[in-house]
Amino acid sequence: MSICYLKEQNLFEIRTHRSTYLFGINERGTVQHVYWGSPVEASECADRLKPRHHSSFDAAIDQETEEFGGWGGTHFAEPVLRATFSDGVRDLKMVYDGFGQPGDRELVIRLKDAHYALRVEVHYRVIPEFDLIERYVQVYNDETQPVKIEQIMSAVWSVQALPEYRLTHVTGRWAAEFQLRSETLSEGKKTLESRRGFTGPHANPWFAIDNGKADETSGQVWFGALGWSGNWKIVAEKTTFGHVRVVGGVNDFDSSFVLDPGSSFTTPVFTGGYTSEGFGGMSRNLHRYQAEYVLPSSRPRKVLYNSWEATYFDVTAEGQKALARRAARLGVERFVVDDGWFGARNSDRAGLGDWYVNPEKFPNGLQELIDEVKGLGMEFGLWVEPESVNPDSELFRKHPEWVYHFPTREGTLLRNQLLLNLALPEVKAFVLDFMTELLSRYEISFIKWDMNRTVTEPGTMSAEGLEGRSVWIRHVENLYEIWAELRRRFPDVEFETCAGGGGRIDLGILRFADQAWISDNTDARDRLTIQEGFGYVYSPSVMMCWVTESPHGFNGRSLPLSFRFHSAMMGGLGIGADITGWSEEEMEEAARWVAVYKEIRPTIMQGDLYRLESMRNTNAAAYQYVGQDGQEAVVFAFLHSQHFGSEERRLRLQGLDPNAVYEVESAPGATVQRHGSTLMNLGIPLTLQGDYKSRLIRLKRVD
Ligand code: GLA
Repeated sequence: MSICYLKEQNLFEIRTHRSTYLFGINERGTVQHVYWGSPVEASECADRLKPRHHSSFDAAIDQETEEFGGWGGTHFAEPVLRATFSDGVRDLKMVYDGFGQPGDRELVIRLKDAHYALRVEVHYRVIPEFDLIERYVQVYNDETQPVKIEQIMSAVWSVQALPEYRLTHVTGRWAAEFQLRSETLSEGKKTLESRRGFTGPHANPWFAIDNGKADETSGQVWFGALGWSGNWKIVAEKTTFGHVRVVGGVNDFDSSFVLDPGSSFTTPVFTGGYTSEGFGGMSRNLHRYQAEYVLPSSRPRKVLYNSWEATYFDVTAEGQKALARRAARLGVERFVVDDGWFGARNSDRAGLGDWYVNPEKFPNGLQELIDEVKGLGMEFGLWVEPESVNPDSELFRKHPEWVYHFPTREGTLLRNQLLLNLALPEVKAFVLDFMTELLSRYEISFIKWDMNRTVTEPGTMSAEGLEGRSVWIRHVENLYEIWAELRRRFPDVEFETCAGGGGRIDLGILRFADQAWISDNTDARDRLTIQEGFGYVYSPSVMMCWVTESPHGFNGRSLPLSFRFHSAMMGGLGIGADITGWSEEEMEEAARWVAVYKEIRPTIMQGDLYRLESMRNTNAAAYQYVGQDGQEAVVFAFLHSQHFGSEERRLRLQGLDPNAVYEVESAPGATVQRHGSTLMNLGIPLTLQGDYKSRLIRLKRVD
């Protein structure tokens, strides 16, 4: 049993394989958090369940560790629920009202207001094998009058009794997403958030807390990731009584909404976890959880070719066919036409919204190209950006009222485009209809769904219709509903989430997306850092990486083809260069790497990731993947540059069986046999010299 109610002590115990999570109802009726960490004997912890008072200036201290409490009375910490009743009262007093156990792994704690018929159900779903708990909340208005919800968060996670609290998170910007940061929390709040209408590249809804000493292989880490692709907020608050509460959910910024009588609202899921195996343990648990519980399918990523960096908007049937013929020679499995195939789309200034095939670019229609691609043995994929519209488009001329807009304001143009208000039912229907038409008419196996700007002027042209601020939430709900419906209608089509690179990646969209485009920055060195940050939270099995040109268009850096391949083989491999210009030698080398990738793909897709070295700290980076059955492993090692005469670098491997013997292939045909213990404790020499060198090392268990 993962969940236990200890009646005598009034304690709830959530047990996972390697952790205990405890809370209870104290004598004041507060649902008080008690413990979260390595396993303990629950019945011996009851003495921690007690009210504590400090002064007339503070909340009762146990209130600070409440599992879920509304703003009212002496709640001074970041609230999880704020509401205004129809009589103007804006004070909540949520009292415990029993619990339910809908299944072995589920617990529901019921709370209700002491006076008003406002109820909350706090849900816990346990994933014992990965030491995770999914939490979300449902709020019900049983009043006869509407209630305004000003803030409703998915969960509050309490981390207690550490001498120091270090917060790790990611920040970034376009082309530099998923940059890791750590800082010691002092009293006060640290807010990670998006107010831009999507998950955003500037921060990502994930946090980790440790005592400042955890590393890749050891140490306690408490962490959480939120599944919401709109405005979100995670607040890590260190109280003056020395513990940390992490509150997260839909951002309350500009987001109040009315809950009509008899209606309810369900928050997104906030998944939290605990490990004593450091940041590596955290990542592996999150990755396995995504594979088992979040992602819509377990299909491995196809090797794809994408034409964006080769042609930009200069898409033509002949040009695409030439690229497709070269791509097929490399062993590519899926050919994707990016932006520029539709409407009057010759630049980013026009055409968005007009989702019909451009007749000048495809005089014989799109089917001709699809036939060619399929004849070459590849699948066909297409780029779309359904939520966007250029003012210079037929769609905008017909429906100017569909965009986000305040009547007295000039709409902000970003990349020459506006955003459709997907919260409107007619816009939702338009998107679902044209996507259905596109996917029904053509043999399309893959859709890259982009969103190249943030939301601004989040209003509607007409005063009637939606209650203003709820658009932030409705946009995301409708997006999820569209993706869910498209998946139902076209179960064989795979979808990629993209928002100008990695701007919409989170556990919410990953319930519908097979893969993610994590950055428009395809420079293989910059990518190592981006991919590393991404991999802290998200599974390499969804991480799309392309091999592109050298020198790279963004930063002029020249990198060997092997380095570019090694960097891109660490997730779903793609090629995004103008391969019509590649020499025969480059074509041959690339085809060899694609063939190797296909051999190691099961290990990358289903294996466990171990970060051995990071260029954040040293001049080398190394990442190891160990296959699920432990029979095979792969190491990608990269050298940035080295100081002459510095000590010989060795890579100490992880995740192997110390007693097993492995055949280690360091170059084609060159193998040695080593015990797991030697590989993990003494390691293998890096043997890289020079600037921007890389190696792929394959291991096979032989005993
Ligand atoms: C975004 C995407 C790119 C590409 C362009 C097309 O920037 O991230 O990969 O699809 O749009 O306009």
